[in-house]
Amino acid sequence: MCGIIGINSNKPVSATIINSLKKLEYRGYDSAGIATLSSGLINEIKSEGRVDNLEKNSLVQSMQGTIGIGHVRWATHGLPNSINAHPHSSQNVSVVHNGIIENSTLLKKFLVGKGHKFKSQTDTEVIVHLITENLKSDDIINSIKKTLKSLHGSFALGIIFKDQPDLIVGARRGSPLAVGYGPNENYLGSDSYALKSMTNKITYLNDGEFCIIKKDHVEFFNEDGVKINKKILQLSSEEKEYEKGDYKHFMAKEIEEQPITLKNGIKEYIDTVNNDINIYNIPWKQNEISSITLIGCGTAYHSCLMSKYWFEELTSLEVNVDIASEFRYRKNRFKKDTLYVFVSQSGETADTYAALDLCNKNGMKTCSVVNVIESSIARDSEFVLPIHCGTEIGVASTKAFLGQILILYILALKFGSVRGDLEKKELSEKLKDLKNLPKLVEETLATDNKIQNVSSTFNEAKGSMFLGRGFSYPIALEGALKLKELSYIHAEGYPAGEMKHGPLALIEDGMPVVVLAPRDNYYKKTISNMQEVIARGAKVLLITNKSSDEIISENIWETIEVESTNDDLLPFLLTIPLQKLAYYSALKKGFDIDKPRNLAKSVTVE
Ligand code: G6P
Repeated sequence: MCGIIGINSNKPVSATIINSLKKLEYRGYDSAGIATLSSGLINEIKSEGRVDNLEKNSLVQSMQGTIGIGHVRWATHGLPNSINAHPHSSQNVSVVHNGIIENSTLLKKFLVGKGHKFKSQTDTEVIVHLITENLKSDDIINSIKKTLKSLHGSFALGIIFKDQPDLIVGARRGSPLAVGYGPNENYLGSDSYALKSMTNKITYLNDGEFCIIKKDHVEFFNEDGVKINKKILQLSSEEKEYEKGDYKHFMAKEIEEQPITLKNGIKEYIDTVNNDINIYNIPWKQNEISSITLIGCGTAYHSCLMSKYWFEELTSLEVNVDIASEFRYRKNRFKKDTLYVFVSQSGETADTYAALDLCNKNGMKTCSVVNVIESSIARDSEFVLPIHCGTEIGVASTKAFLGQILILYILALKFGSVRGDLEKKELSEKLKDLKNLPKLVEETLATDNKIQNVSSTFNEAKGSMFLGRGFSYPIALEGALKLKELSYIHAEGYPAGEMKHGPLALIEDGMPVVVLAPRDNYYKKTISNMQEVIARGAKVLLITNKSSDEIISENIWETIEVESTNDDLLPFLLTIPLQKLAYYSALKKGFDIDKPRNLAKSVTVE
């Protein structure tokens, strides 16, 4: 993770760098720093904590220089303090880095032997000294080329030089990096979001490439230092700046935006005229695919797990789900007739990207479901299905989750219908229900008082459990993850039927347990499991859907009823109260909802 910015202009850059760092804070926020060139020297200012702390520093406010780099950090090597914050500088070179240098210990030993003095505990500092060392004998291009070849691991770099006051160097291997073009100034950034307020003209660096950014032009090089031409992409005007508006937190806004996410996805992928699915360009014939493997991390992994139930229900495909960090190092048996689907909001998650890369290298069929369409995962997949939910800032994913499961559900319907597993009439009924879903989500969002009240009980408890069966089980996992991420409360998601095989021992008097028991095929079974936890003293918050049938159970602590729809779509509605539970419990605790401790939104390190 970590966020990088660089600006080469003819105006002072420090204030713009600080503003861009605020946009990049979702990538890491334990410390921040800036370096500019002025009066022939590198000036570096760093602080622990948020960008606000850095901005308050009076030295930053008076900082001169028309060329500079900035960084927000998510610590990997060394404590999150101001010494380990980036930029790291020698007298001649200053570097910001996103990624991990795996051979830093060996390189440090070599550099210390050459007389270099290190100040921090970071892996990044070796890059500074390596470039400084290489510049003794080489010109700038050769010293960068040589330095990059010595580094093992992943990086996106921004570099400025005392003796080259007209340029910034950017370099990429593994971690994302973009170049932006402005009027008499050019930029470097970890993503287009940080650059959006300045430009909508972007070039993405590919692995192994580096660039030299001057005020009036940018030159690109491959890993051998040979000049290359690259395309300038024009970002769509839709991609305006995303602001919080009247909401207290981005997360609150993103939760409320979910009906729009669903409307956008339905508009994009459902052909309402022909009552069909608008995915006509799948590059493989159906008889070439007999199984599907879905891969992701965090919330995106839960989306994969959710869709396993749909793919199994609606198609004859064999379905597997994998966590990217496990998949990438396992001895996989790649099969030609398997479609590998990568799910990622950011499209930059290092483990998911590595899993995709592995599949590509083995000649597999690859498809991605992403939010950021210019991302590395989207660019390197054979087939891309964007979720169109707009920028998501809250570190804990909400609208992207609903966007992902929507597209995966539509893909399952598509495969079911083209393979002949799903009859035309059935498809048409399911599409009809789907079109009504945004309205149902809107109505479910409108009922919220009870959740605010019950959230206090979760805050006071030692731990909590989230139970569900079938379609509701992945949602239980996601609900527990949301509570962990935001409120730092121990929360365990479990298949309700599995409680008796161990976790029941955790239940004690007054422990809050969320039971997801919509009136689907699993309802009666889940209610029995619910009674087992109530009998052992749990305070059950039952989440079900509205029905004229009474709930036959005693001693339920609280019940929340979401709207009703067909069984396939209930998971969308059950998700809403769980997102709100996590939100309100963190709100009551006064925690930083959009930036929970120790986490980052885009995890570009393994
Ligand atoms: C981080 C975020 C999670 C997210 C996961 C995968 O851990 O905090 O919210 O689910 O990364 O991110 P991706 O961008 O690949 O969906």
